[in-house]
Amino acid sequence: MKHTEYVYLTPMPVRIWHWLNAFGIVTLTITGINIRFPDVLNIFGTYKSAIVLHNTAGIVVSISYTLWLLYYMFVAGTLAKLYIPTMNDIKTGIIRQAFFYFFQYFKGGPNPHHGTPDNKFNPMQKAAYLVIMLVLLPLVIISGIILMYVAPLREIIMVIGGIKTLVSIHFLIACCFTAFLFVHIYLATLGHTPLAYFKPMWDGWEKVEHAHGDPHGDAHGSSHDKAPDNDHAVKSAASIGAA
Ligand code: HEM
Repeated sequence: MKHTEYVYLTPMPVRIWHWLNAFGIVTLTITGINIRFPDVLNIFGTYKSAIVLHNTAGIVVSISYTLWLLYYMFVAGTLAKLYIPTMNDIKTGIIRQAFFYFFQYFKGGPNPHHGTPDNKFNPMQKAAYLVIMLVLLPLVIISGIILMYVAPLREIIMVIGGIKTLVSIHFLIACCFTAFLFVHIYLATLGHTPLAYFKPMWDGWEKVEHAHGDPHGDAHGSSHDKAPDNDHAVKSAASIGAA
């Protein structure tokens, strides 16, 4: 017999940020390809309208990123806890998680990590999200802002090595984002159902099934590493009217 529980993993501000950011980054990628390779892709009417849309999406992504950072640092206060890998994550966790994704997953083996509000991400996610959110996204935003104001920021551009270097940096980071996006979406479908990890990004709640008599195990090998701090973050299926 199974006992179903729902864990509140993703607060609303993070969900709003995530989908706005995803839409913004996809828009930036498509308009960016149009701007860089107009002979290959030209779908926005004029070259100028591709640039206007690219700049607008860039501003939306920059503002929503700033709000995301402020939220995690000062409201939730969980930025370091969630996003910085521990020594154990680095020494063994990343390898264990990669082993799961590359081998065990295909044999129906259990996922070694189980998200709680305090420890949402597996070691691979932590490392990837740390690089994406705290290194690459700030860099692409800063390089993009400088490219929007080339004349007034001429001196900064000279220090960086000239406009060509800046454009190359911006372009290479954008390529990293595109690569991340494919891997991110693929890995996000590897829950116990293809949409299991999408659910908490939509309504906040993740479904966890425990095998009867084993409060730490479930039908898919899922278990909590530790109980969440906040008791209200966990509800049984009956209490929220789900079967
Ligand atoms: C269409 C594009 C996207 C889809 C379908 C998507 C899907 C998802 C899903 C299902 C999750 C929850 C599972 C997990 O944590 O892996 C997630 C979380 C996350 N995604 Fe995405 N994503 C997209 C674009 C992006 C982009 C462009 C970024 C960053 C530049 C991003 C950064 C993140 C982060 C940081 C989290 C964890 C959020 C948190 O709980 O704090 N995603 N995404």
